[in-house]
Amino acid sequence: ATQGACPFRGTRIGGAQGSEPGLDHWWPNRLKVELLYQDPPQANPLGRDFDYADANAWIDHDQLWEDVRAFLHKPVEWWPSDYGHYGPQMNRMSWHSAGTYRIADGRGGAGEGMQRFAPINSWWDNGNTDKSRRLLAPIKAKYGAGLSWADLIALAGTVALEDMGLPLQGFAFGREDAWSADTGTYWGPEGWFGKAPTEQPADPQAGHPDQMVNRGLRWQGGPKDQHYDLENPLGASHQSLIYVDPEGPGGNGDPMDAARDIRETFARMAMNDEETVALVAGGHAFGKSHGAVPADKIGGAPEIAKMSEMGLGWANPVGEGNAENTMTNGIEGSWTPNPTRWDNDYLTNLFKYEWKQTKSPAGSLQWTPTDPDAPKTPDAHLPGVEHPLMMMTTDLAFKVDPDYRKVCERFLEDFDYFTEAFSKAWHKLMHRDLGPTARWLGPRQGGTFLWQDPVPEVDHPLVDDAQVADLKARVLETGLAHGDLIAVAWASASTYRDSDKRGGANGARVRLAPQRGWAVNDPARLDRVIDALEGVKADFEGEGEAKISLADLIVLAGCAGVEAAAQAGGHDVTVPFVPGRTDASDEWTDAESFDWLKPVVDGFRNYVDEAVGYHVSPEGIALDKACLLKLTAPEWAALTGGLRVLDQNWDGSKDGVFTDRPGVLSADFFRVLTDTDLVWRPETGEERRFTLERRDGGGATWTATRLDLVFGANAELRQIAELYAGADGEGYFMRAFVKAWHKVMMLDRFDAKEARKAA
Ligand code: HEM
Repeated sequence: ATQGACPFRGTRIGGAQGSEPGLDHWWPNRLKVELLYQDPPQANPLGRDFDYADANAWIDHDQLWEDVRAFLHKPVEWWPSDYGHYGPQMNRMSWHSAGTYRIADGRGGAGEGMQRFAPINSWWDNGNTDKSRRLLAPIKAKYGAGLSWADLIALAGTVALEDMGLPLQGFAFGREDAWSADTGTYWGPEGWFGKAPTEQPADPQAGHPDQMVNRGLRWQGGPKDQHYDLENPLGASHQSLIYVDPEGPGGNGDPMDAARDIRETFARMAMNDEETVALVAGGHAFGKSHGAVPADKIGGAPEIAKMSEMGLGWANPVGEGNAENTMTNGIEGSWTPNPTRWDNDYLTNLFKYEWKQTKSPAGSLQWTPTDPDAPKTPDAHLPGVEHPLMMMTTDLAFKVDPDYRKVCERFLEDFDYFTEAFSKAWHKLMHRDLGPTARWLGPRQGGTFLWQDPVPEVDHPLVDDAQVADLKARVLETGLAHGDLIAVAWASASTYRDSDKRGGANGARVRLAPQRGWAVNDPARLDRVIDALEGVKADFEGEGEAKISLADLIVLAGCAGVEAAAQAGGHDVTVPFVPGRTDASDEWTDAESFDWLKPVVDGFRNYVDEAVGYHVSPEGIALDKACLLKLTAPEWAALTGGLRVLDQNWDGSKDGVFTDRPGVLSADFFRVLTDTDLVWRPETGEERRFTLERRDGGGATWTATRLDLVFGANAELRQIAELYAGADGEGYFMRAFVKAWHKVMMLDRFDAKEARKAA
């Protein structure tokens, strides 16, 4: 092709191909408002009316369970199973699917089957999980849309555990597949030996010795204390890959260093020491590591593999490229003499023998017993061949770290206790991001655990329309300001995050620790409003049979507040209200894990926790929150602008309260924001806070933060602000505000599916 030829003749790459350089390359620091439109409905071939719960209810769960179990024992030629059992490799796939979960922002996890898409499908750490998923394709095809990939990926490793002898807590379906890659989640650095992804070798089949380091933590290398980053506060930048390097940090072979990394990464997954040991010692009771072939012979990851590989990757040219020649991680060998049976041999041998460093055929650092008489493990494919046992540096971590060691000793003494601990930790791992039990499907869901953030069942008739009207009147009669009612309803509902479906108004946990004490919630006001609402509830219930939960009343009070604030501006609106929430107790609340829901930046209430060091702009974090609340850009703008004029700043400051009638719901915020007669002056070079002045020197003066001005400065958000500010804009604004308000109140109402969908 000649330079400069017409792009539309196809002589130059570009146009609809989305080739570089794109918008993000030209303007890497622009606010990516489009992150609000992840996994759009257009990507989903099932259509908007598809209901996974309905579809899943139709499948024969017992038959499915049996199909998966039978599959584990039927090796196929293109990828024979080790030891004649697919259980261990399925278990690793399930664990890797769920193990991306991080409690900081609830992202990652098994919930949407993201292991099918880049970047996760191509992480070196996920090597050969492409084969595990492809092996399951016939089962997926048999059950079709009634069985999501996300559920099947979690199910396969769970059935495998049961088949190999672990008693299960249960298994719930309900994970709805995403249909496109997640481009918003920051997973930490990826690349080839420090090269940017764009510099990766063009030929996918040219071996990449450097691939070995494409595993997050290792890649960062460098001094010990810098090998992974503790970036705060944006949840999405909280961690690199979940995986710790099995050879120790930076491949240093130091079990004590490995212990520190394991503790940190598993804590980010919301697992304590006991759960961590249970999971790893439990998982490594099974299967083997694969390192028969040097990494530089292995082809590219699925995302850059050749077309003929049909979505699989890591082509291995040695022998058939599988069975005894399999190369996955690089370490070679098994931890136990019976790799397909649930037993305590992993811990027994770990503690009974001394271990010395050795190298796998692929050159990876691993450990072998010093005692030549230690038990051996059979070859996974060759009859009559045996190998010494293997441990990774990360396995030895449990022996050398004093706290892990204590847990191991308990597990060694009491195998039943260990069995139960592993079974429970596995259950939590698989279901951590499935959300409220109303989302759980299938006949074998198991018991209720604290990490599910349980709420009681509704055990009384719900209030009818007349009672709702009566309650609204009673709430307004308490004399609480409209703003107070709005503040508490917002504080209650806005903790929701769609990533792991935690938080929200149900349970009324806003009245419990830790939420009741968060500065952003203005604890003094919260106490006052909760007390008053408890009074309303007591009076109302004292007068008859009807009952209302505090969780419902908090939301209802918010509706009354918004309606009154709109009325004050001459708008007659009704905010929908759907009863059915119940009140959780302290005993039902894991306070420590709820503290992760505390906002570090809340754009809706102009809150920035200055104690936290920031790598990301406040507006970037506000966008992240809008994303977790599933808001569209017009909804995000309407809620922010509306809450400003409703005087909802957490500390009562007037930043962004661009109105001379605070407390009245109006589009004033947008009128001032887009007023060309105003000029914004930053208070400092950092542009954190601004003074707004009239160009002609007269009239009102306001102050603002970045969280206000972003709606006028960002090109896309400004279009919305201009619409709301226009002569005919207040109607658009009012509709968007009320709709978005109701949507946020309903985000956690999986129990009221139709009403939630309609919101
Ligand atoms: C295999 C590392 C935690 C279950 C492996 C392999 C590595 C590894 C390097 C070999 C992969 C291959 O080459 O085929 C680690 C590290 C962990 C960890 C560093 C955390 C410190 C877990 C957990 C589970 C688990 C929590 C499950 C509860 C398994 C299983 C296999 C395996 C079943 C065998 C797979 C097979 O036979 O194909 N692990 N793992 N691992 N891991 Fe882990």
